[in-house]
Order: sequence, then structure tokens, then C-alpha cells
Amino acid sequence: MAQITSKSVDQPIRILGATSHFDVEEFFGSILAATFKTSDPVNIAIMRDDAFGAKRVPVGKLHKIDNADVRQSFEPGVDLAARTTAMLKLFHNMRAALHVPDQPPEKAPPSSGSGRNDAFGLLAAGLLNLPQPYSPIKFGLVWNIDKRTWVHWDGNTKSPIARNLLASLGLGAPLHGKHADLQFEMVKRQTDLTEKIRPPLYPFAIDRAAAQRGAPLFASNCNSCHGGPESDKRLYSVAEIGTDPHRAGMFTQKLADGFNTFLAELEAEGYRPPKEVGVRSTGKYFAATLSGVWARSPYLHNGSVRTMQDLLTPSQQREMRFHRGSHVFDEGAMGYTDEGAYILDATASGNSNSGHDYGTKLSAAEKRDLIEYLKTL
Ligand code: HEC
Repeated sequence: MAQITSKSVDQPIRILGATSHFDVEEFFGSILAATFKTSDPVNIAIMRDDAFGAKRVPVGKLHKIDNADVRQSFEPGVDLAARTTAMLKLFHNMRAALHVPDQPPEKAPPSSGSGRNDAFGLLAAGLLNLPQPYSPIKFGLVWNIDKRTWVHWDGNTKSPIARNLLASLGLGAPLHGKHADLQFEMVKRQTDLTEKIRPPLYPFAIDRAAAQRGAPLFASNCNSCHGGPESDKRLYSVAEIGTDPHRAGMFTQKLADGFNTFLAELEAEGYRPPKEVGVRSTGKYFAATLSGVWARSPYLHNGSVRTMQDLLTPSQQREMRFHRGSHVFDEGAMGYTDEGAYILDATASGNSNSGHDYGTKLSAAEKRDLIEYLKTL
């Protein structure tokens, strides 16, 4: 879900299914940092030593207090020590549910920014204890999933059961050993619903004549890979496509075996392990449907190319730094404007904007026509 604006409209538009700009790592990361900091012995000692908060301020003087520091309500007479212990237990449960060990990492992982996360890196570390090289990816496609058997950027996960089980566990369904606290019936219901999501229609004006001129350009430059049935024929080697190799390379056969064993041994209410293999390693990238592609910028699996205009620019000349997290849509370039809190640096590991040079030799006018056509998909 995303709420977007453009110069041509007065009111923001909410688009169901558009790739969200939610910074999921920042959100969960802040919760985790807070839980580790609270339980830090130094912080606990401060609470114990100064239960009335009277230290570090002269008698009769006031502390300067920030609004945000005192949002919690503590009724009079509450046993602060018991409350603190209860909070620590709650924090422990939150960490356990997110499959985060009780020791903070020595070094914070790189931040992926809004609309991206290191999905399989976090899953591999959390569920299998097999940390991987950092491989940030854009949130996955959520529409027309019923037309695909193997989902994700490298087509590694069988849809729908393995896909949704791993997503539920990755997003915090509690897991103790091999037992997950989830109702399989609910996962199944969710799965059935998500199979029916269709791409959002382009909400702004389309130049129909230009789009018509763009159709044959799509047919001759793009359709051989992005058209037809969504089968394994659409998996392309990293060497051929030339985009950042990290995500395809990190999902090795060892990881696939680890996840398959995990799914075979998983216990959950109403769940019976699937007979067929649910996870595989391909080492390739999938040329997914371009339906609703207008709503998917910044582009490529790692979200390293801000607009379609930039994707149609030879890779050596693409923007090397831009902001992610903008809600303002640039209709001409087809993508979000260069605004937002996070700076994507295409020189950083996992962030390369190289490769996928298809359509970059078209003339400026042809690129405009192709972009107009892509808005109709
Ligand atoms: C040789 C096959 C091939 C051709 C030809 C091709 N693509 Fe792709 N395309 C891919 C693959 C594979 C990916 C996934 C690569 C990645 O994300 O790293 C991809 C990714 C994309 C994405 C990113 C989707 C997203 O959600 O970010 C867009 C957009 C795209 N292609 C548009 C086009 C257009 C437009 C053309 C024609 C000008 C085209 N492609 C031609 C194979 C191809």
C-alpha cells in the first residue's frame, strides 16, 4: 500500500498493492535497539541506583524532560521494579518472536532504507543460523501471484505454502524450536486471498497515441523476456542480465536444503509438511510480469534505479546516488522523485545499478512512447 501525489493532482491517492515505502528494518531495528539498550546492565544499574530520579539535579530544581520520554502511563502506587522486570520479559518475547538472539550483534547491519530489506539474509540468519552476505532487495511483487509457481527475485520459493509460511515466520510469528505459534488455517486463508491481488491501474493521465506507438517497441525489445507464461524459461543468468549479483548468489543449495529441512520439521496447528520440495536454489533472476510496473519504482531487484527513464539510460550513465522514500510521482520519468530520508549509494555492496541495458539505445522519443505504453500494463 502506498499513498502518492503528483504535480497533476490536488489530492494524494492511495494505491492498494503499490510497493510500500515502509522502512521495515528501521522499525524493527529501533524496537530491537531499544530492548537491548534497556536491558544493558549500565542502564539497569541507573534505574536501580536512582529509583526516584532525584540524582543529577540540584535539590528543588527540575529535570528537562522530553515529551517522547514520558509517553507511557504509570499509575500511582505501581511497583516500578516489577514493572521493569515485566517490560524486560516483554522485550525478550519480542526478540524471540523475531528470532533475534539475546546478544546484540557486534556491528549493526547496513540499513536498506524504505521499501527494501535483506529478506533472505535475515531469514537465513534468524531461522537457520546461517548468516549471508548483505543482499538488499525491494519488497516483492504481490500481484498476479496465482500465475507463478516459483516466486521471489530468483524464483526460489514455491508458491503459495512455502512462500507464506516463510513470510509469516520472517515477520515474527513466534517459533520455539520446531514449533510455530501460528494457525495454518489462517496462513492458508491469507494465502488464498493474496493469490487474487491484481495490479493497480495507472492513476494519472496516459497519452494514448504515444502508448500505441510504444506497443511495438515493447514487443521488439522487452516481450521476449517479460511476456508469455511465467515459467522457468523466464529465469536468466546473472552473467546475461548483468544486475547486482549478490541476491542471486547468496541463495545457495545449502540454504535451499536448510529451508527444506526446516519446512519438513516444522510443527504448527493444522500444518502437514508438503511432499514436494518448497525451496530451491537457481542462482538466476526472474523476468517478472511488467503489469503494474509503474507502481514498482525504484527498479530492479535491489531498487537501485530510481525511474523507468533511468532504467532506459545506459547503465554507466545512471544516477549513482538518490533518495528513497519519496511519495511524489514523476509521471514523465515514471518513478518517484529524488526525495526521502534514505540515500541509496549504488557503489555500496549489494546496491549496484549495473546491467539490464535493454532499450537503452532507443531514441528519446521512442523511450517516451515505450514509457507511455508501460503505464497501460
Ligand atoms: C533478456 C531478458 C530481458 C529483456 C530483453 C528485458 N528484461 Fe527486464 N528484466 C529481466 C530480468 C531477468 C529482470 C530481473 C533483474 C533484476 O531485477 O536484477 C528484469 C527486470 C526488469 C524490471 C524491474 C522490475 C521491478 O519490479 O523492479 C523492469 C522495470 C524491466 N525489467 C523492464 C524491461 C523493459 C522495459 C524491457 C524492454 C526495454 C526489458 N525489461 C527487457 C530480463 C529482461
